[in-house]
Amino acid sequence: MKILVINGPNLNMLGIREPGIYGKNSFTDLLALLEEAGKETGTEVTQYQSNHEGDLVDRIQWAYGNADAIVINPGAYTHTSIAILDALKAVSLPAVEVHISDVDAREPFRHVSYTGMACEKTIKGQGLDGYRQAIVYLAEKYGKA
Ligand code: DQA
Repeated sequence: MKILVINGPNLNMLGIREPGIYGKNSFTDLLALLEEAGKETGTEVTQYQSNHEGDLVDRIQWAYGNADAIVINPGAYTHTSIAILDALKAVSLPAVEVHISDVDAREPFRHVSYTGMACEKTIKGQGLDGYRQAIVYLAEKYGKA
């Protein structure tokens, strides 16, 4: 099973960016965690990060025919991007949304998720482990097919 993990804007700044909210682990640590989760679940995990909305849309479209499922942390585009929502709907792949922080416990504008409307599950407030949980969920549900 091929799982594409997509990270949106500023997630490449993990470890530097607001460590009180997002933790001290770096983006490189996240990449290592994803590799581990792939081994743990016997899935092929690849990762893509971009700060640009259109690039994220392009990568979601690319996933059609090239991946079996998507794990996505769209960063701030979560709360604004109908284009990313439409791309996720267009490819119609099983998708899980991940947020490192508990967005519901933060500013009201973070309580709305457009992109989550195309995802079958959202994992929030679990730190980087949320990505591992998303991969385990998808592998258990779709990995045997
Ligand atoms: C985030 C939450 C978003 O509100 C924020 O804009 C991010 C990161 C998270 O992982 O907690 O960039 O998606």
